[in-house]
Amino acid sequence: MDRQPLSRTCTMGLEAAIGNRHMPDAQIGKDRVSDIYRKIAPAYDLWAWCTERKARDRCLELAAIQDGEDVLEVAVGTGLAFERILQANPSGRNEGIDLTEAMLIRARKKAAKTGSTNYRLRIGDAYDLDFEERSFDVLINNYMFDLLPQRDFRAVLAEFARVLRPGGRLILVNMTEGERWYNRIWELVYRINPALLGGCRGVLLLPHVDACGFRQTKREYVSQWTFPSEIIFGVAA
Ligand SMILES: C[S@@+](CC[C@H](N)C(=O)[O-])C[C@H]1O[C@@H](n2cnc3c(N)ncnc32)[C@H](O)[C@@H]1O
Repeated sequence: MDRQPLSRTCTMGLEAAIGNRHMPDAQIGKDRVSDIYRKIAPAYDLWAWCTERKARDRCLELAAIQDGEDVLEVAVGTGLAFERILQANPSGRNEGIDLTEAMLIRARKKAAKTGSTNYRLRIGDAYDLDFEERSFDVLINNYMFDLLPQRDFRAVLAEFARVLRPGGRLILVNMTEGERWYNRIWELVYRINPALLGGCRGVLLLPHVDACGFRQTKREYVSQWTFPSEIIFGVAA
């Protein structure tokens, strides 16, 4: 797809160059993501209910979707947030993409149950969004940056900034670094075998979101059954 050159770029900070101080960088390349999530897909909703539900609820609260808006969810997974996006936005535009067909199949089933026909769910890559510049009011992305290499964070955030309208809301949820000793169990699990966590490790995304020009940024921390998540909010410039 032909595109204008990026009007919004991100500055490369020192912390991005040297990597996350506490956690190893991503261990699972994009070429393995679909294979891993095809295996995880049948159990994902149970995992998400136990560990991610509180953060996902807060994400949707912060998104404050108004009916009639243009909403994009990147990495929809099994559609846990997407079905609620459809309920909040029956007459708006709803787009969902993911790299993994096995996750999308589950998302399509949930979306069909809402009765809405006002959506598209298809294969797509966060690194190269197949959408026009400034075409969305809201962009939601949950538990994806925590499996990307740190060196790619700002390129993907710049892509998110590209498709958001000025004033558009960005809401991101990630596994993050634990604040208490018991949260750190998950770091140990990741160090033993990253695939057990679907390749996700704790990240701290706020400095990158700031560096990419988002405004009114804020970060909240949630722990559910010891699993640490961050919810990041920002407004596109
Ligand atoms: C941990 S799951 C989270 C799913 C969903 N966002 C949720 O919160 O339930 C990670 C998802 O990110 C998707 N994913 C990973 N890299 C991606 C990329 N570059 N573009 C689009 N989706 C990606 C995977 O296929 C998987 O479905």
